[in-house]
Amino acid sequence: MVDFAKLPLPIIQAPMAGGINTPELAAAVANNGGVGSFGFAYSKPDQIAADLSATRRLTQGPINANFFVFSPAAMPSETEAQDALNALRSLAIQCDVELALPQLPYYPDLLTQLEPIWAARPAMLTFHFGLPPEGVIKQAHALGICVGMTATNGAEAEAIERAGADFIVAQGIEAGGHRGCFHQDQEDDQLSALELTKVLASRCRIPIVTAGAIMTGADIRAALHHGASAAQLGTAFLCCDEAGTPPSYRNFLLRHPERGAALTRVFSGRSARGVQNAFMLEMGGKTVLPFPIQNTLTAPLRQWAVKNHNGEYQSLWAGSAYSKIRPMPAANLMRRLRAEWMAEER
Ligand SMILES: Cc1cc2nc3c(=O)[nH]c(=O)nc-3n(C[C@H](O)[C@H](O)[C@H](O)COP(=O)(O)O)c2cc1C
Repeated sequence: MVDFAKLPLPIIQAPMAGGINTPELAAAVANNGGVGSFGFAYSKPDQIAADLSATRRLTQGPINANFFVFSPAAMPSETEAQDALNALRSLAIQCDVELALPQLPYYPDLLTQLEPIWAARPAMLTFHFGLPPEGVIKQAHALGICVGMTATNGAEAEAIERAGADFIVAQGIEAGGHRGCFHQDQEDDQLSALELTKVLASRCRIPIVTAGAIMTGADIRAALHHGASAAQLGTAFLCCDEAGTPPSYRNFLLRHPERGAALTRVFSGRSARGVQNAFMLEMGGKTVLPFPIQNTLTAPLRQWAVKNHNGEYQSLWAGSAYSKIRPMPAANLMRRLRAEWMAEER
């Protein structure tokens, strides 16, 4: 079990599905006093096993494996599907990508994805978008794996605590990537990370990990002052040397602070925060299919944009404080964060 109070630096490097997390990044964080993570939401079991064993060769420190709890999605009507396809075909991007409606199954089977976890036994297992199926938490505990889930409001946090989890990731509205709301159509409370941390710390007994716009040691300190036991940082690590972030994505983060980061459903069908680009603007008001069907539908276009160094048509997930990113090796960033955090403490 991971005891946040015993970590030299109480942080989790956020799980970031889609190729950002690498064994080198996770290991550098775990070797420098934090918890390194993988976002395995879309990964196949072989890849999960390979990433975890490659990481184990680089560190004995704590590693977190993260998954999405997908909800069944129904393909909408023929008209809606055609409208969604036409919306993408009308984008100004000139590319020769074939777009096609996804086929069933629309998302991976979570229990199959978890099989390599039971063999590799990382220190932590976390879930985004809801509670895992019955039995998963018990199985993790039997193997000494600590379990956490994302909450965006008090009701979700209480459900997580009742389910027997060990900690809650309090995701504020500033956070980069997908909102972790349990239900995609629910009203979003849109609480800031610090407001949410305060609410959850007063309503729950298990540890709270604050996520959203935490970029410096002073931000970590503020989260702990509001009742958190640790902080989860995603955007801060996006331009570390070891991250799998494509060059054109890094370029946007570092050279376009004026764009700002906004919430959008156009890439995946679910609300997520990323740097504003042409894709988001051109898709405004157009038909978008449910998550994750839209995600699969837009994937070839986004992959084409990555290959062709075109940041305007990629999903550039990032938190609202992305202008504070410090590009450097992850070990250096960890040392800086720790020094700032300790300086604040004195
Ligand atoms: C590129 C990117 C991908 C993300 N993917 C995941 C993910 O796969 N699973 C998850 O639980 N959270 C994911 N998140 C959200 C983070 O866990 C966390 O809430 C967020 O990074 C915190 O805000 P910050 O980006 O301002 O640090 C992602 C965030 C980013 C920036």
